[in-house]
Amino acid sequence: MKRFKFLCKPEVIYGVDSVLSIPDIIKKIKCRKILIVVDKFFSKTDKFAKIKSIIGKVVDFVVFDKIEGEPTTETGDECGYFGKENGCDCVIGIGGGSTLDTAKGASIIITNGGRIRDYQGIDKVPSPGVPKIMVPTTAGTGSEVTFTAVFIRKDEKKKGGINSVYLYPEFAILDPSLTLTLPPDITASTGLDALCHGMESFLSRKANFLTEIISLNAVKIIWKNLPVAYSNGNDLKARENMLYGSFLAGIGLANAGVTAVHSISYPLGGKFGVPHGIGNGLLLPYVLEFNLPEIKEKLGFLAKELNEEWKDLSFEEASVKMVEEIKNFLEVFKIPRLRDFGIPSESFSELAEDALKVSVPIENNPRSISKQDIVEIYRKAY
Ligand SMILES: [Fe+2]
Repeated sequence: MKRFKFLCKPEVIYGVDSVLSIPDIIKKIKCRKILIVVDKFFSKTDKFAKIKSIIGKVVDFVVFDKIEGEPTTETGDECGYFGKENGCDCVIGIGGGSTLDTAKGASIIITNGGRIRDYQGIDKVPSPGVPKIMVPTTAGTGSEVTFTAVFIRKDEKKKGGINSVYLYPEFAILDPSLTLTLPPDITASTGLDALCHGMESFLSRKANFLTEIISLNAVKIIWKNLPVAYSNGNDLKARENMLYGSFLAGIGLANAGVTAVHSISYPLGGKFGVPHGIGNGLLLPYVLEFNLPEIKEKLGFLAKELNEEWKDLSFEEASVKMVEEIKNFLEVFKIPRLRDFGIPSESFSELAEDALKVSVPIENNPRSISKQDIVEIYRKAY
């Protein structure tokens, strides 16, 4: 058995209405003033009014709700300095991945000063931030369990992640009832991101026997429940399973990493505003197709786990069928193609160069990939 390291940092509280346990956490960590970072959409809901009311009974707080789409470094700076100027000693993030990433970035700005850009890269954060309580309202990014926060450098039209152990949240509250109001398109894009986290971490070069069990289960749960949550957003059982599945996929991602799908998708978001989960979902079957020579056995095993009727197929047959099955699966969510985002095909070469610079997922990819291979993948997803 190969050597491996495994970490699952946050204390996790899962279940309907688990969000009501925030006051107990606040009392436990003895903070005096809280920065609440919240999704614009969620900030207007009755649920948020209730959350503010229960928090207000135990501690002072300020609210930052200026997050428009995927956060820029400037948004992260503004949020961090808002918390710092208000003397906040704890951050609660309530929302999708963009909100949670902003909250994680703010927590390190409060203690370290500086700017988000100073910390983009690997291990550039000098000291821990203030404690972070993460409350996802989407089932997708897994930000509540990862050590990463991604911000767009607007001037360069590039995304960059802060990767640091100090970004691991201390608490994750997984309350499925908060995801019930998600519209179908966000359910699909965030859910497809989670599916990619599960599949990519399962197939990653860094996968180990522990992450494989977690990632495989994440994929099984998401594969079964995402179409249900998409077609009936009020199906609480499907929402519960999706939040659980995306959490598992996040643990897989945090420990085994993602692969070329994420690297190839990153520049599409930075330059052309393609939503993270849509970009990943679109590219997934073509990257798997490219990887097939190296993943036949493993993808075949996963395929047979997902499709009982394929039990008599060889791993190789099942792996080839699985790529087509994923293309059919994506049809359900009516996601746009690359050409629908106004991306000129002449830009593929430059996009591929940028994708190769997102080096950690590229290194985790089970098959070595060149610039020309990436251009070909963009073409297929066009
Ligand atoms: Fe992702």
